[in-house]
Amino acid sequence: MAAYICVVTFNVTAGSYARFMGRFSEPLAVQFARLAGVRAGQRVLDVGCGPGALTAQLVERLGADAVSAIDPSGSFAAAVRVRFPEVDVRCGVAEQLPFPDGSFDIALAQLVVHFMTDPVWGLREMARVTRPGGLVAACVWDHAAAGGPLATFWRAVHDIDPHARDEAELAGAREGHLAELCEAAGLTHIEPTSLTVSVPFTTFADWWEPFTLGVGPAGAYVTQLDQARREVLRSRCAQLLPPAPFQVAASAWCVRARA
Ligand SMILES: C[S@@+](CC[C@H](N)C(=O)[O-])C[C@H]1O[C@@H](n2cnc3c(N)ncnc32)[C@H](O)[C@@H]1O
Repeated sequence: MAAYICVVTFNVTAGSYARFMGRFSEPLAVQFARLAGVRAGQRVLDVGCGPGALTAQLVERLGADAVSAIDPSGSFAAAVRVRFPEVDVRCGVAEQLPFPDGSFDIALAQLVVHFMTDPVWGLREMARVTRPGGLVAACVWDHAAAGGPLATFWRAVHDIDPHARDEAELAGAREGHLAELCEAAGLTHIEPTSLTVSVPFTTFADWWEPFTLGVGPAGAYVTQLDQARREVLRSRCAQLLPPAPFQVAASAWCVRARA
C-alpha cells in the first residue's frame, strides 16, 4: 500500500505539490531545521526531499555544498536540481541510500517515514549514512489524532464514505510510533516531541482547489470521484470549515535520535 501511494500519488509537478502540501511543509521545515540544531560546518542529508521545502532551509543555514538530497520522484528531484544546482540531488529511496557509511553529521526525513515501503529499514539506512553519534531526525503529521493539515478533509470524507481509508494508520502517524520505529532501527537517545504550524487561507477555494491536483493519498481520493460525488465532498468540507478567512493548525510528531 505505501509503495503504491509513493509511486502513484507523488508523480505530480513540484508546483502542484507546493500548492497542496508545500504551504504546510515550508513553515514546518523552518521549525524542523531548528529542532535538528543544524549549524554551519555540518554535512546534512534530506531524505524524501520532495520539491525542496526542507532542502531550502538547509541550504540557507549551511550552504549548498554541505547539503545532499534524495527522492524517488523524478519530477521532484529535477525541481530541486533546478532550484539548487550546487546541491547533490539523487533519485532514490530511503531504504537504499546511495552514500557510504558515516557520510553525514545529520540525516533528516520530513513527512516521509509514512510513505516508506519499509520504515524501519529506511531509518536504519539513515543511521548507516550518518556518522556514529550523529543526529537522525524525522517528523510525520499527526494524522491519527486528527491533528494534521488534512483532518477536516478526512472527516468530511468519512461523513460521506465511512469505509474510506485515510492516512491515520500509516507509519509514524500516531503518537509514539515514530519513536518505536527508531528503536526498532537501532537508534539511541530517542527524544520524541511535536511541532505545530498555522497556515492562513483567504478563501475556501484557496483551501479546496489544491485537493483536486491529485497530490498524496487525499488528492488520489478526490481524483477518483465523479463530478457529483466530488461536489458533495466539497460542500461537506465547506460546512465543516470556519467562514473565510481562517487558519488551519497542523501538528507533526517528531523524533530526534543518535546514530
Ligand atoms: C509528503 S512528501 C514530503 C516532501 C518534503 N520532505 C516536504 O516536507 O515537503 C513525501 C515525499 O516522500 C517521498 N518518498 C516516498 N517514498 C519514499 C521512500 N521510500 N524513500 C524516500 N522518499 C520517499 C515522496 O516522493 C515525496 O516526495
